[in-house]
Amino acid sequence: MILMTSNARKILVTSALPYANAPLHLGHMLEQVQTDIWVRFQRSRGHQCLYVCADDAHGTAIMLSAEAAGVTPEAHIDAVKSDHLRDSTGFLIGFDQYYSTHSEENRQWSERIFQKLDAAGHISVREIIQAYDQEKGLFLADRFIKGTCPRCKAADQYGDNCEVCGATYSPSDLIDPVSALSGSAPVDRASDHLFFKLGDFTELLTTWTRAGSLQPAVANKLGEWIEAGLQDWDISRDAPYFGFEIPGYPDKYFYVWLDAPIGYMASFQRFCAEHDEDFDAWWQPDSQTELYHFIGKDIVNFHGLFWPAMLRASGLRLPTAIFAHGFLTVDGTKMSKSRGTFIKASTYLDHLDPEHLRYYFAAKLSAGVDDFDLNLSDFVQRVNSDLVGKVVNIASRCAGFLRKNFDNKLSDECDEPDLVRSFIDAGDGIAELYENREFGRAMRDIIALADRANQYIDDKKPWVMAKDPEQVDDVQAVCSVGINLFRVLMTYLKPVLPGMAERAEAFLKISTDWHELQAPLLGHTLEDFKPLLQRVDPDSVTAMIESGKVS
Ligand code: 2FM
Ligand code: ZN
Repeated sequence: MILMTSNARKILVTSALPYANAPLHLGHMLEQVQTDIWVRFQRSRGHQCLYVCADDAHGTAIMLSAEAAGVTPEAHIDAVKSDHLRDSTGFLIGFDQYYSTHSEENRQWSERIFQKLDAAGHISVREIIQAYDQEKGLFLADRFIKGTCPRCKAADQYGDNCEVCGATYSPSDLIDPVSALSGSAPVDRASDHLFFKLGDFTELLTTWTRAGSLQPAVANKLGEWIEAGLQDWDISRDAPYFGFEIPGYPDKYFYVWLDAPIGYMASFQRFCAEHDEDFDAWWQPDSQTELYHFIGKDIVNFHGLFWPAMLRASGLRLPTAIFAHGFLTVDGTKMSKSRGTFIKASTYLDHLDPEHLRYYFAAKLSAGVDDFDLNLSDFVQRVNSDLVGKVVNIASRCAGFLRKNFDNKLSDECDEPDLVRSFIDAGDGIAELYENREFGRAMRDIIALADRANQYIDDKKPWVMAKDPEQVDDVQAVCSVGINLFRVLMTYLKPVLPGMAERAEAFLKISTDWHELQAPLLGHTLEDFKPLLQRVDPDSVTAMIESGKVS
C-alpha cells in the first residue's frame, strides 16, 4: 500500500535504458543505485514515486550480436533482458516496470511522434554517401571500419580516431580501410536518409536549457552546442536493421536513439495499463506531475536537446529535470578487463553484499557530474567502519541488555527526550540533502548522528550499570534511548539500505518510513535481535577482482 501525505507529489523517474547486448557492469549499477535511492527516499516521505526503465533493444550492434550467437534478435534481447533484470533485482533496484523498447507501445509512440514531427515540417529527406560492406550487405557506421592511421601508420585502427597517436580523422582518410565485419574493402554508396530539423527548436532549447532543469555544467555544454548552431539529426537507418520500420518509408528504420527515450513513455504506459494509472495525466503539457531522467553525462545531448524538442513538437510535457552523473572509475582508473576492474554486476553479486556497494555509492555521490571512484580499500574500510562499527553497533549493544533483563521491552518514559528530539529534528536537513541528490553529505550527517549515539552509550556505560543492583533499572532507560536513536538512523538510511531496514523493522516491530517518524517509541516490545549486516571481507574483494580478470 502506498501511504500518501496530504501534499503528496506525483513523480515519474527513469534511469537510462541499458543496451540489450551486454551484461550490466558497476557503471550501470552506479546510475541505477543513485536513481533507486532517490526514488525510495521520495516514497519513504509519502510521495507517489514511480520508477520505470527498460532494455534499449534496437540497433546494428544488437542485430550483429544475435547473428554471432546464432539466434534471432528477439530471442537475444529476451535473454539479455532477463539477465539485466536479475542483476538489477540483485542490487535491490525497485523498478515499478522494466520493459523493452522492442514493444508494441513503443512502436506506436515512435510512429505517432514521428508523424507529428513530419506533419509539422520538421523532417527532411536527403541523400547521403556512406561506406557500404558489399559482402555483408550493410552500411557501416564509423566503428565498423578499420584501417591504417593516416598520421602514425599504426595498423588496425577503428573508425575515426587512432588509439596509438590520438589523431582524429574521417574513416575515409584511413589507409586501406576494411569492414570490421567482413574484412572486405568498403565502397561508397548513396542512400536517402530522414533528418529531424533540430534547428527549428533553437528558441525553445535556448530557453529550456537555462530554465533550471539542468545542472550548470550540463547547461553550459548544451549552450555551446546551441550557440554553434543546431545541426539536423539523422534519424533513419537502412535495412537490414533491428528496429521499427518508418511508416511511409519502406526499408528505412528509426535510428535506435530515436525510439530509445520514447521507451520511457512506453514502459510507463505498460505500467499504467497494468495498474489502472492515468497515462495521459502524466504526459500532457500542463501535467502537475514531475518527470526526472537520471543519465550518464555522455548522453546529455539526447536528453537535453533532441528529447525536449521531440516532446514539444508532439504536444507532450517536458522533463522537470535531467540529472546527469559522471563515469565510474575503479581504483582511480578506467575500468579494465585485464586488471579485473571491469566488474560485471553479476560478478560483484557472486562475492559481495549489494548493500555494501549501495552504501559506498551513497557515501560518495553528489549532485554533480564528476567521475566517481570506487576505491576498493576505502570501500572495505568505510562500510565496515560506518555501518557495522557505528550504526549496527548501537542496536547490538543495547538489544542484548534489553533481552536479558527486560524481556525486550523499552522503558515507558524517554530518559533523554531532547537527545531523541534532536535526532528527529535533524531529519529536515537530511531530507533536503537527499532531495538535492547530495547523498554523500546526507551520509556524513547520518554517521555524525551515529557517532553521537555511540558517545551517549559510551558515557552511560550500561555494561557497568548492569553489574550494580542499584542501577540496573537505568540500563533499560539508557538502552531504550539507544534503540530510539538507532530507529531514527535506520529511517534515514532506509533509501540506501532497504534490506537492512527490513531486518531492522522486524527487530523493532515498526515501519521505518520517514513520514512515520514523529515521537519516540515507548513501552514497546522488540523482537530478538538478529545480525543486520555482515562486515565486508577484503578477501572477497580480492576474489571478485581475480574472477573478473580477462587475459
Ligand atoms: O547509452 C546507452 O546505454 C543508451 N542505451 C541509453 C538510452 S537512454 C534512453 F534514451 F533510452
Ligand atoms: Zn595514429
